[in-house]
Amino acid sequence: MPDFVEVASEEALSRRVAELGEEISSDYRNRTPVMIGVLNGCVPFIADLVRAMSVDLVVDFLSLTRFDGSGRVGMALDAGVPLAGRDVILVEDIVDTGLTLVTLRKILGLHEVASLTTVALLDKAPRRIVDVPVEYRGFEVGDEFLIGYGLDWEHSYRNARGLWAVMDLAVLQADSAAFAPFAYPASV
Ligand code: IMP
Repeated sequence: MPDFVEVASEEALSRRVAELGEEISSDYRNRTPVMIGVLNGCVPFIADLVRAMSVDLVVDFLSLTRFDGSGRVGMALDAGVPLAGRDVILVEDIVDTGLTLVTLRKILGLHEVASLTTVALLDKAPRRIVDVPVEYRGFEVGDEFLIGYGLDWEHSYRNARGLWAVMDLAVLQADSAAFAPFAYPASV
């Protein structure tokens, strides 16, 4: 068994993101949604997704802030676009346990938005521990740890063009450079 297995190639990601863009555009025809990317993993996905969309839209970003020790989670909106009365679409790289999304939906719900939906490139459905709606999903995936196309290993590899599953995490734990030849084949 190889240590890293490509789950979706650059071409497959691009095709699926184009489909999502078309689907969301057709659902939001004559509306101007606010697309809010959840940093940092959303970056390649939201950049490709918004360019695959054919309705006017607003792009904003948020980051989650965790308060040490207390377990409390806060949210910092980047541009701070007023959300009251707006159709908001959360843009997530991956929904795993669902806890992050539940928290975000709760906080955004306080903004009196007109509607709130989520597009997640990846849905690790088998690992969900809370029930939370994901209206648009790119791919349903298993429970392997994934890297590339926004997903990181200790802040690295977000710019790998494909999406890869790590079959043996001990390999990366022992040597975080082990994935580099897969992430950056042209440099080998
Ligand atoms: P949740 O709260 O468990 O749904 O976690 C969601 C967050 O966990 C994502 O936004 C990612 O930052 C991170 N995450 C979950 N699974 C993976 C993975 O396979 N690779 C990299 N990050 C992941």
